[in-house]
Amino acid sequence: MKTINLDSIWQISKFLENKKYNFDKENILKILNKEDIDEAYKIISKWDNYSPTPLLNLNKLAEKLKFNKIFYKDESKRFSLKSFKALGGAYAVEKITKGNKEIVVSTATAGNHGRSVAWGSSKLGLKCKIFISEYVSEFRAEAMRSFGADIIRVNGNYDNSLKECIKQSKQNNWQIVQDVAWEDYKQVPKLTMAGYSVMMKEISQQIKNEKISHVILQAGVGGMAAAMVAGIARYLNDIPKIIVVEPESAACVLESIKAGKLEKISIKKESLMGGMSCDEVSLVPWEILKNSVSHCVTVSDNCISKTVKSLANCEFSNEKIIGGECSTPGIISLIGMNNDPEIKKKLNLNENSNILLFGCEGDADEELYQKLLNE
Ligand SMILES: Cc1ncc(COP(=O)(O)O)c(C=O)c1O
Repeated sequence: MKTINLDSIWQISKFLENKKYNFDKENILKILNKEDIDEAYKIISKWDNYSPTPLLNLNKLAEKLKFNKIFYKDESKRFSLKSFKALGGAYAVEKITKGNKEIVVSTATAGNHGRSVAWGSSKLGLKCKIFISEYVSEFRAEAMRSFGADIIRVNGNYDNSLKECIKQSKQNNWQIVQDVAWEDYKQVPKLTMAGYSVMMKEISQQIKNEKISHVILQAGVGGMAAAMVAGIARYLNDIPKIIVVEPESAACVLESIKAGKLEKISIKKESLMGGMSCDEVSLVPWEILKNSVSHCVTVSDNCISKTVKSLANCEFSNEKIIGGECSTPGIISLIGMNNDPEIKKKLNLNENSNILLFGCEGDADEELYQKLLNE
């Protein structure tokens, strides 16, 4: 069997301590409230074929890094959609439309959110229009078409696809179900976050009596990360260190926390981690993240394929894990931070640590997944 080499190739690019860190449970649960979180679990846990996704132990990696445990929430098993996004968009569609067949649903997406919205719409028999940028693979587009959605491809990046979605939705009176918030559009993104929080409910039951010391949360616009923070406030008694990881080319959470205010960044090169290649933190997540994230890190794309392969080849755990590109930055940043003695000490990473990572997606884009495996 191959042993893992965790040498200096595994690096983080930037590390930031949040000077305004102050985990305020009550305030967090004012932004995403307990009733909304509880209702999402009540409804989603009754969906057909619902079952909690596995909480795996990356035992081989934990042994190598000399940590107690590394929990890995395996969202490749989330319904048939292969990502946590299945919990958000589809739930928001159900709540907002109440199944009214007159309503046409629309959204803009990097892939997984749209798939969830298309799936949720098809379950309710609703028409659905999905706007994608030139960077979204045809494989992901086809996955959405398979749920009966009309796909509209827009020149340029995600922002362009969102602008076009808003424009056409206004003209045609379509109901936008977006995971990003802006002024006057906060209710739907909150519903998607409430949906995501189901992950933390499951985790709180799966860890039994263990305490999590550190959690590493991937961020694009910050919805998933903020939903997990709200889930921590709702379900956990012991608050772990909360670390946000982003692509080095799209570190909008890190830059905003550094500036102490929302900062729009300019993306020079899109990361391979397409779902996380975002230039601005969404409004609702920002309200939660700005004080409850203890640290931010960024990683390059360099170790993505290595991580995908190690997960698949049982180098981190006893079982084979199918983890797509967005499932890798938690692992990459953990090894990178552990390779830096100063950061390791600052974060108190040691043999008692129980670290929680999110395997946000499986081979949701099968072609890219195969490419990463063969690299
Ligand atoms: C596939 C995928 N899309 C998007 C995101 C980012 O979610 P959000 O935009 O809510 O921060 C992630 C995780 O970070 C992801 O794994």
